[in-house]
Amino acid sequence: MPEYTAPIAARLAGFFSSRLAAEKPAAAAPAAPEKPALAPLAERKVFENPRRVPFAPEPVLVLGTWNDDGTPNAMTAAWGIQSGFARVHVFLSKHLTTENLARRRAFTLAYATPETMVGADYVGIVSGASVPDKVARAGFGAESSPRVDAPLFAAFPLSVECEVESLEPDGEEIVLVGRVKGVVADPSVLTDGQVDFGLLRPISFDGAGAAYRAYGDKIGAAFRAGATLK
Ligand SMILES: Cc1cc2nc3c(=O)[nH]c(=O)nc-3n(C[C@H](O)[C@H](O)[C@H](O)COP(=O)(O)O)c2cc1C
Repeated sequence: MPEYTAPIAARLAGFFSSRLAAEKPAAAAPAAPEKPALAPLAERKVFENPRRVPFAPEPVLVLGTWNDDGTPNAMTAAWGIQSGFARVHVFLSKHLTTENLARRRAFTLAYATPETMVGADYVGIVSGASVPDKVARAGFGAESSPRVDAPLFAAFPLSVECEVESLEPDGEEIVLVGRVKGVVADPSVLTDGQVDFGLLRPISFDGAGAAYRAYGDKIGAAFRAGATLK
């Protein structure tokens, strides 16, 4: 187990300190729809031992790999998360993708957007094992990444390039750990040279309603909003 350098919050706050210092006061957040007052805890619905936790937001990641014959494959993953400054975890069932990952030890993750939602859903409901040209059908425009042994998809404005650090079964899932080797961003999603999720507008997966939802407006400054309660 590697030694921790500092608590995550401190490292994050340190990482963003120059950006936070440069930040202008936020414009007033758009008015949220009025919500009813919360019921006392004793009156709330309890889902005991739920089959699926209603967790949201989950990302909609398009995971790209090379097939055995050198053609590109892609699958959708909602169970993916950043697990270090340059590290990701993705939780997978057995797919053609997991075979590709074991063989080529590399992958890309592209963030689905409203414009790429239909294609991102398609590669999540069709296996490359039965539709070998599914990436071409989805119109993703696959090209070789110069940094990792995996395809980049030109149709997506933001992609992360990873090498496989580990790929191990754990309970019902196969846990993929990726070391990030590069981030490829289209100029249209950058503000002052930094990725701007307000411009990208990645979509998220709603696991309670089986829906894709739009990423919302900025409503506050992280590491700042809570300072009023200090
Ligand atoms: C919205 C959505 C989210 C998904 N999330 C995951 C996931 O996190 N892990 C996983 O193993 N499969 C997930 N899937 C299913 C795979 O994307 C799907 O089985 C895919 O066809 C596998 O492709 P392959 O056989 O070509 O590798 C998801 C599918 C959809 C539509």
